[in-house]
Amino acid sequence: MRNRTFLFMPGNNPGMLASAQCLGADVVIFDLEDAVAQLEKDAARTLVSHALTELRPQGVGVTVRINGLDTPYWQADMQAVVAAGTDFVMVPKIESAEQMLQVAEAIESARQKCGSTATVKALAIIETPLGIENAYAIASASKTLHGILLGAEDFTASMGAQRTAEGAEIAYARSRLLTACKAAGVLAIDTPFPFVSDLEGLEKDAAFAVQLGFDGKAVISPHHVHRVNQAFMPAPDKVNWARRVMATARKASEEGKGAVSLDGMMIDLPIIKRAERILLLADA
Ligand code: GLV
Ligand code: MG
Repeated sequence: MRNRTFLFMPGNNPGMLASAQCLGADVVIFDLEDAVAQLEKDAARTLVSHALTELRPQGVGVTVRINGLDTPYWQADMQAVVAAGTDFVMVPKIESAEQMLQVAEAIESARQKCGSTATVKALAIIETPLGIENAYAIASASKTLHGILLGAEDFTASMGAQRTAEGAEIAYARSRLLTACKAAGVLAIDTPFPFVSDLEGLEKDAAFAVQLGFDGKAVISPHHVHRVNQAFMPAPDKVNWARRVMATARKASEEGKGAVSLDGMMIDLPIIKRAERILLLADA
């Protein structure tokens, strides 16, 4: 499964749920949290469960964002979506390793209750100052955790920061979360770009996420999907370079040579690792 784009879709909109597999996103996120008003929480849960069983999107990863652990809804959400079948359960506002373990236990107990043998992994959203401070503890808390998304809207709101297209206000949170994810070996998913009609800003923001090393990016509009997918595909000249690096390294190793160079650049282990990642992204 590719993981360049994670598209949020409101869990109370049947038309959008039905179109989930046609929008080009690698993973769709049916949202039961902030896109759904309090009075509609139960109806949306039923609708999303129905979409998972009856209209199961094919060829894309499926996630449901359930309500947070501090709400009266999350346990019913968890049981319903695990029973209906989902690849991932996304849990918002995770702030500690203990909460991550609570999520992992809840997934396991929901699976047992409905007799499911399918693997269900967790995606956490970190979107508070405390969550950012605890990023590595969260990222390394449980094998059930597949990846972490930065939620910059809630984060900047709780920091009292302004949210801008340039994103200087989230520089630390991005880097902290990214480093924690890489250290723990889970996917690092960048925050959505919130200015829906600023497509030039979106492209810059996605290119920056790629530059930093994020594995994918969330999107809040179907119009953003294609551009973000493209940003995560390595350019042909980079793929070509990576192939030449690998060929040069292979030849050197066959000939028993240590240090070799290509276009005046030493081909050492970090360069080989970079080339491997480019080829992995190109083929994924
Ligand atoms: C996502 O949940 C965000 O708060 O940005
Ligand atoms: Mg949020």
